[in-house]
Formats: sequence, structure tokens, C-alpha cells
Amino acid sequence: MSNIIEYLEKLKEETDNYLKEILSHEITPILLGEAVRYAMFGGGKRIRAILAITICRLLQGKDENIFPFAGAIECIHCYSLVHDDLPAMDNDDYRRGRLSTHKKFGEAMGILTGDALLTHAFWILAAKTKAKDVVAPLVENLAWLAGIGGMVAGQSADILQERKAPWEDLLGKEKSTQDLLAYIHNNKTAALICCACKAGAIAAYAKPEEILKVAEYGIKIGLAFQIEDDILDVTGSQEKMGKKVGKDQASGKLTYPMVYGLEKAKEKAETLVKEAYQAISFIPDNVILQDIANFIVHRDY
Ligand code: IPE
Ligand code: IPE
Ligand code: MG
Ligand code: MG
Ligand code: MG
Repeated sequence: MSNIIEYLEKLKEETDNYLKEILSHEITPILLGEAVRYAMFGGGKRIRAILAITICRLLQGKDENIFPFAGAIECIHCYSLVHDDLPAMDNDDYRRGRLSTHKKFGEAMGILTGDALLTHAFWILAAKTKAKDVVAPLVENLAWLAGIGGMVAGQSADILQERKAPWEDLLGKEKSTQDLLAYIHNNKTAALICCACKAGAIAAYAKPEEILKVAEYGIKIGLAFQIEDDILDVTGSQEKMGKKVGKDQASGKLTYPMVYGLEKAKEKAETLVKEAYQAISFIPDNVILQDIANFIVHRDY
């Protein structure tokens, strides 16, 4: 693991430096600026940015065409965490080892910080991407998979399930619990991770069939990522995770350990990683992508 940890640290630093530069302008009201920076900095693995940058580089794309996307997707990811922690959603007081944004700045500022980050993501992408011909495909990819075609749909199903909404108001009455579980996880988490991977290929002007393969890698490691997040909610520590653990069961979330048991959940994540390797076998020197996939299921944070 040590090489991959070093690699992830290096790319995280590159992403953080870019984000600092891109968010260095004055933001008023001062408190909005503070809340936006609080939500963006001070932790976070930056795994979505790292995937986008890594894939773009492996496919011979240029940094100047992927860094704005990498910044944008981290803004969207951070907004999703700020909103996910709100009292009306998961009601979590801690994130990344400190108070969650709404706990620090109040609920209204938590909502507005999320709004600001979501909107600003598209500004960064449109304003800063060098090759203008990739902007529209990158925006299309991000707007769909972060929204109705992915994350927001998954977050909605997650909350509706937890609040015991009528079954037919979720995916229709013919769907099973297993179907709903897969839907929630594929959408709330795998979609954005898939989006990051696809973007790397789009920014590198990859062929459509290559973009599809990279998307397949992304959806598989993305699902594995959320399964592992569920597992760590059972087996992990608050100290390492920087957020409360043991909450999923208490709040009645539908999770892989709950439906399949810890052992089977772990096996499922491992199988997904193996399948993900297959999807990117067309990329020469793809070991780094194998290592990232492996990290996802063996991490403890
Ligand atoms: C946490 O995502 C939310 C999930 C999708 C499980 P990360 O584990 O990527 O969070 P940070 O950015 O590293 O804090
Ligand atoms: C969150 O899933 C997925 C998002 C889109 C934010 P969780 O609710 O399990 O994430 P954590 O455990 O709070 O980080
Ligand atoms: Mg949640
Ligand atoms: Mg949560
Ligand atoms: Mg979780």
C-alpha cells in the first residue's frame, strides 16, 4: 500500500494547490467565504479529482483540460457532504475530524455553502478549461451524474428509504430490497466516481468505446467505495474516519452489511474491484488504476 498512499498524497497536494488558487479571490459576505473555504479545505481524500487527473494523464490528455474539472467535481463532492450532514438529512455533527459546516456556521449558511459550491463548480469548469470544445461534454457528464441522473437521485432514495416512504413511491412496487440497495449506492456515490473517470477520458479526447470502458471501471470502483464506506461505518473508528461511525444501523439506512452481512459485503466489494481491472485492461501501464481500486477496498479512512 505504501506506494499508492504516496501517489494519492502527491495528487491530493496537486489538487489542493489548484483549488487554493482557483478559490483565492475575495468572497463576500466574508462569512460565506469562510464557510466555503471551511467546507473545501481541511481534509478529504480528493479521490474523485485524483481519478479524473490520473485517467486523463494515462490517456495522454493535458492537465489544463482536466484540472478545472477536478476542482469542479471536488466542489460538488464537498457540497454533497455539507448537505448530507444537515439535520434534515443525516444530521451529522462531525466531518473530516471537526465540526460539520452547518454546526460551525449555522444551518442556513450550510445550505447556502452547498448552493455556492454546486454553482461555482460549473463556473470553474466553463471559465477555466483551456480547450473549449471539451467544456460542453464535461458539463453534460457532470450535470447529469451529479444530479437527477445520479447523486441527487441516490441521495433522495437513501433518505426516502430511511424515512420509510411508501415502497411504490421509490422505484415502483415490483422492485426488491436488493434492487433498491443497488440503486441507492450506484446513484448516491458510484455515479459521481464514474463521472470523474469518464471526464478524464473525455478531456483526453478518448474514443467513445474507451470512454465506456472507463465509465465501467468508475461505476464498479464507485460501488465498491460505498460498500466499503458502509463496512467502515460498522468496523471503522471515528478517529480514523473523522466522522461518527455506527450511525447507519441506528438511523435505519439500507446498507450492504445490513442486507448481505459483513463478510458477503466485503466479498462483493472485492469482486467489483476485480471486474474493474478488466474494464481498463485496454490502457497500457494501468497499474496505478488497479492500485487505486485496491486502495478503495482496503482503506481504513
Ligand atoms: C464520503 O466520501 C461520502 C461518500 C460518498 C461515502 P469520501 O470518503 O470521498 O470523503 P472525503 O472527501 O475523503 O472526506
Ligand atoms: C453519502 O453517503 C453519499 C453522498 C452523496 C454525500 P453517506 O451518508 O454514507 O456518507 P457519509 O458516511 O456521511 O460520509
Ligand atoms: Mg447520507
Ligand atoms: Mg452521511
Ligand atoms: Mg456512510
